[in-house]
Amino acid sequence: MKIIYPDSYPSRDLHQFMLGSVIPRPIALVSTISNKGIKNLAPFSYFNAISSDPPILGFSVSDRKDGSSKDTLANIEENGECVINLVSYDISHQMTLAGVDFPPDTDEFVKCGFTPVPSSTVVPYGIKDAPVRFECLKDRIIYFGEKGNKTALIVCNVICIHYDEVIMNDENRIDPVALDLIGRLGRTNYLKLTKDNIFSIAQSRSMIPLGYDNLPESIVKSSILTGNEIAIIAGIEKNPDPEFIKTTKEKYKLLATDINSAHKLASELIKSGNIEEAAALLFFSF
Ligand SMILES: Cc1cc2nc3c(=O)[nH]c(=O)nc-3n(C[C@H](O)[C@H](O)[C@H](O)COP(=O)(O)O)c2cc1C
Repeated sequence: MKIIYPDSYPSRDLHQFMLGSVIPRPIALVSTISNKGIKNLAPFSYFNAISSDPPILGFSVSDRKDGSSKDTLANIEENGECVINLVSYDISHQMTLAGVDFPPDTDEFVKCGFTPVPSSTVVPYGIKDAPVRFECLKDRIIYFGEKGNKTALIVCNVICIHYDEVIMNDENRIDPVALDLIGRLGRTNYLKLTKDNIFSIAQSRSMIPLGYDNLPESIVKSSILTGNEIAIIAGIEKNPDPEFIKTTKEKYKLLATDINSAHKLASELIKSGNIEEAAALLFFSF
């Protein structure tokens, strides 16, 4: 492993390291309005949800290279309102247009070809084609760094949410594939979400699992099981029942003849979702 001490690392490289390592990041396409009534849009990927109840979102805006504040920050400092539009794949190229530093008197809805929709609770407009729009009031702004090279973390209270009903499944839960948000990676790279790259981890949070310290060494030090497979076994609630261990070993007696073949078979069973039998084989003492 290499090591970086931020104080003695070139700031350009540090910026690229931060941008490229904490990924993928969602993107807030933030709509604000100046006191002169100019509609502004800009994307920010230092963005995340901070709390659900109350609903709070946060994104951070750093100063321009010339030390001036970006229009988004100036507008929110002025009037405390914004709409955070989420960015689906269909509007990704328009979003990058909004990332260009246009002069403050530019209507960026017009410039980027977005259709503005009036908001229900705030003055800034939403983007018609965004799948979710959060109407927000500034809660607070926390400033980091020095004037001219500062970053402002804008913390917003969500007071109204608009969403496209196609993103909801029959159980009134968001279908991530239908939502189709992009994620920001480093440099000019983005991530498109597809059905194939979604996986589930059904670890119960109400049950206390065995943990690594209660697993036999033969499992923890297995040269066949992957780290994730060992963690799945560490995630079960209790040691398999001795009777079940016996019957499972009997069932697979032709395939699991020694520790290596048992671990190979357990690995296959875990992949097919049969954790119970996998655990029984792994807890058998050869
Ligand atoms: C995908 C993407 C993500 C961005 N994320 C950030 C960010 O997190 N913070 C930031 O200060 N600028 C970020 N930018 C750059 C701003 O969007 C850009 O400086 C923009 O012109 C600011 O516009 P404004 O002056 O209208 O606020 C990002 C740009 C892109 C394309």
